[in-house]
Amino acid sequence: MILVSRDIRSNTGPVGPTRHSPVLVDEVVEVLATQREGWLVDATVGGGGHAVKLLETSPQLRLFAIDRDAQAVRRARERLQPFGDRAEVVHAPFSGLEGLLPEEAEGQVIAILADFGVSSDQLDDADRGFSFQEDGPLDMRMDRGTQKNSAAVLLAHASEDEIEAWLRDYGEERFSRRLAHAIVQARRFGPLIRTSQLADLVERVLPRGRRGFHPATRTFQALRIAVNRELDEIEAFLQVGLQLLAPEGTMACISFHSLEDRRVKLAFRNEVRSGYFEDILPRGVTPSSGEVRRNPRARSARLRAVRKGGGGD
Ligand SMILES: C[S@@+](CC[C@H](N)C(=O)[O-])C[C@H]1O[C@@H](n2cnc3c(N)ncnc32)[C@H](O)[C@@H]1O
Repeated sequence: MILVSRDIRSNTGPVGPTRHSPVLVDEVVEVLATQREGWLVDATVGGGGHAVKLLETSPQLRLFAIDRDAQAVRRARERLQPFGDRAEVVHAPFSGLEGLLPEEAEGQVIAILADFGVSSDQLDDADRGFSFQEDGPLDMRMDRGTQKNSAAVLLAHASEDEIEAWLRDYGEERFSRRLAHAIVQARRFGPLIRTSQLADLVERVLPRGRRGFHPATRTFQALRIAVNRELDEIEAFLQVGLQLLAPEGTMACISFHSLEDRRVKLAFRNEVRSGYFEDILPRGVTPSSGEVRRNPRARSARLRAVRKGGGGD
């Protein structure tokens, strides 16, 4: 079932301007900006940084934007208001893209962007529970309005094996077994409901990581992926997005860790092998050292892009 909400139920207060710095903006503009008439789908509009740049550089593009986060949708709608009816922002998960696209955009989608993961607006809001840097509820849901299970609920009910599998498969955590055991032992004394409880537990159980790399980084990534079923979302989106592109349309994806990037790489490679697509950024593009200095959160980003052939399918 696709959960779509065009109104915002989970948050009605003021959202304020975005704190998110979009990554690889020049590189995204380089591959997606166009003077052709058509539609841009921004599947992860977030604070709207990439979307604004693309609308400014491509005057003939209309934007259909999506975000699963109600606050991001409100923020993006406000930011994109100057573009009037050139921009529509919808609150939904991107896996449901196919059923959401306006009829007039069908066959006209010439650019698709996905910038996976979480935004600084989400990470820096302790109340969302995405970060181990500040104490907050252990939540991590991108959409509290439609997702039932927070990270705390998942951890309270999962078996030790399930927790170990999340840590291993979604966090690529070497010490997944040891950590899963410690989590299950700890919850016998009371539920894990705060980010600081989990971060402290990981710090106690795991050896110190590389300098600048908090030992709870992998655990938080794993739980976030499990809560939001992020990898399933990405796989569904990639299939649909590649199908929806019009001839000579371009799809660009920004990944932030190897699990995301692997899925993008494989989906793109399959299409290139089929002969219908060209890889326009072989090996992908990563941020310059200047960008990483200005915005350390860009450090693990990788942009990949493919272009559909003129014949299409
Ligand atoms: C890295 S941010 C995007 C930032 C944006 N490109 C900008 O310029 O501000 C990722 C965004 O994707 C959204 N997101 C993550 N998974 C999603 C999904 N499955 N469906 C829709 N949006 C999703 C998050 O809520 C977040 O706002």
